[in-house]
Amino acid sequence: MYEKIRPILFKINPENAHHLAEIALSTARRCPLFFNWMSEKYFVKNEKLHQKIWGLDFKHPVGTAGGFDKNATMIQALPSLGFAWGELGAVTPKPQPGNEKPRVWRHIKEESLQNAFGFNNDGVEVIAERLDKIYPFILPLCMNIGKNKTTPEYKAIEDYKILVEKLKDKVDFFIVNVSSPNTPNLRKLLNEEFISNLFIELKKLTNKPILMKLSPDMDIEFAVEIAKIAVANGADGIVATNTTVDYSLVKNPQDRGGISGKALKEKSYNMLTSLAKELFRKTVLISVGGIDSAEEAYKRIKAGASLIQIFTAFIYHGPKLIKEINEGILELMAKEGYNHISEAIGADIEKLKDETILDTEIIQSNDENQDSQTEEKNTKKDNEL
Ligand code: FNR
Repeated sequence: MYEKIRPILFKINPENAHHLAEIALSTARRCPLFFNWMSEKYFVKNEKLHQKIWGLDFKHPVGTAGGFDKNATMIQALPSLGFAWGELGAVTPKPQPGNEKPRVWRHIKEESLQNAFGFNNDGVEVIAERLDKIYPFILPLCMNIGKNKTTPEYKAIEDYKILVEKLKDKVDFFIVNVSSPNTPNLRKLLNEEFISNLFIELKKLTNKPILMKLSPDMDIEFAVEIAKIAVANGADGIVATNTTVDYSLVKNPQDRGGISGKALKEKSYNMLTSLAKELFRKTVLISVGGIDSAEEAYKRIKAGASLIQIFTAFIYHGPKLIKEINEGILELMAKEGYNHISEAIGADIEKLKDETILDTEIIQSNDENQDSQTEEKNTKKDNEL
């Protein structure tokens, strides 16, 4: 079905196309039969994919990513699109219009998008009212929280506090956004002092999980350090990654905004593997960025991600992709003899560790060989003498 709608949507500019889809989905909720039929078709139910994380039921690992439902108007549509959980927002304390239009572009050959939205949203008051009517929902919901453009960095912490305070009884968990490239100086907040204070202050307000989302443009070692600091100060998980400003990744980039989709795939995977080496089993890792197939999703799971998120590939392929990803994960698990997704999560890290141990053993035995060779040489030398 989506294959038939897509050419029409792709004739319209991407922001209007998204808006049109939003109107269609928020109208369709008045027709529960249609949503039920869609859920039957696209929502994969299988106990092997079911995880309980932070006490929440994730029926399978695939959720929407920040920016997909900025104003919390499409929540009821989530299961019918195949998703098992949803990230809403980014929301800011005050409503704001975002950056000048146009602010989203398609890079069709690269199956990528570039957006410079700048947290356009209805503001926390309106969004909280919408959530009142729907929360608790049948699937876990989280909120991506950001600061207003006009809030100076030294006051940023107050914006995040307002958002957690106002929404703590209306969503299941939070993702702190300090990694969007579209709010001036936001990424400057990715520093040790701000991140530790932020988590200390936010954790005083709620027991609900609060995660941090990283930028793929950070130096990887620094990203791992900041993630460790966040976790040490109470963060319940790390989301990697947001969009990238590495414009070399697409052929005809715009001069502003962040790139998502296939072009981001490698950067996002690399950051996940570095984070996982340090943080797997110490916190929950969520992978997002360029996931567009069951193979890629499974690779992220084996690299240590408990959950994954999809935005751009959904725009290109629709709900069929979410079903294919879940079915594909089940097939790949069966091939490798895993009975439950929890056995596959992080399996490659364990392998990597085994390989490191093996490497060390090889190095050691080489050393031993060298030692005995040296001994032999010495004895020879001794004999010669
Ligand atoms: C985003 N993304 C995003 N992230 C975030 O934390 N808050 C936001 O408000 C938005 N807004 C947004 C709008 C649009 C149009 C896009 C394409 C993306 C980033 C998004 O959540 C995700 O991290 C990246 O898009 C990478 O995932 P995909 O798209 O490659 O699956």
